[in-house]
Amino acid sequence: MISIEDFMEDIVGKAMRGNRISIDQLSSLSNVPKDSIEELLKGKFDEIIITSIAPHLNLDAGSLIASGKKTWRPKEVTLNGLSIYNTQWSDMYVNAFLVWDPSNRSAAVFDTGANCEVLIADVEEKKLQVESIFLTHTHGDHIADLPKLLKNFPDATLYTSSKEPIEGANLIDCGHEFNIGPLNGTALLTHGHSKGGLTYFIQGLDRPIAIVGDALFAGSMGGGTVSFEDALKTNRQHIFSLPDNTVICPGHGPMTSVKEEKEMNPFYPEFKK
Ligand SMILES: [Fe+2]
Repeated sequence: MISIEDFMEDIVGKAMRGNRISIDQLSSLSNVPKDSIEELLKGKFDEIIITSIAPHLNLDAGSLIASGKKTWRPKEVTLNGLSIYNTQWSDMYVNAFLVWDPSNRSAAVFDTGANCEVLIADVEEKKLQVESIFLTHTHGDHIADLPKLLKNFPDATLYTSSKEPIEGANLIDCGHEFNIGPLNGTALLTHGHSKGGLTYFIQGLDRPIAIVGDALFAGSMGGGTVSFEDALKTNRQHIFSLPDNTVICPGHGPMTSVKEEKEMNPFYPEFKK
């Protein structure tokens, strides 16, 4: 089972950095002592403190409490035509995905993960034809095994965001449409974690899927390294607007769904009752 990527302390840290709020400022805004906030950032769970600080960070307190208690994880996803590959990169794990049409065996690979050997073996075993390789963004952990992937699938076309060009790739923008056999896909710009991060929304399997890179995680999101505001805005615009049953395939941690993220992602309080 793939571990949840971020818990309460990671979420609060990302929200503080994103909103540019220091421990001192959060302490005076919330009337919570500085050392209690420091303890929370080290992982010490305290429901009253979470409830006091959450509104000052635009976080939903209820889902942040669930994250602190570690009681929630999204339902396991099984979908014919979709596989996840979770590989170790230094001290963390990163995901790559394989999407194929079960009727005509056309396939596309999304990111490479740290090591794509199992993915390549799966393609052979399932007798798939990899036509395209799409990158969600070009951070090192997501493209680490690209040379091996390209060597194994020499006929596949490589696509990446025009805002994150790499050698040999076809450059695409928001709204770019593509096909995997009879499956239809659209690239959507979800930047903010990276300069030109793309989400790939694909329809035609039993459920729609969105391969989001580090734009969103189960119960969290990637750090807003380029722009936290843009990351929030483009996730709202291009991910939370997708159908509720859309499977979200993040770059780290387990798969989830739009419905579960509306209910349980603390960064998006507007969807909670
Ligand atoms: Fe990343």
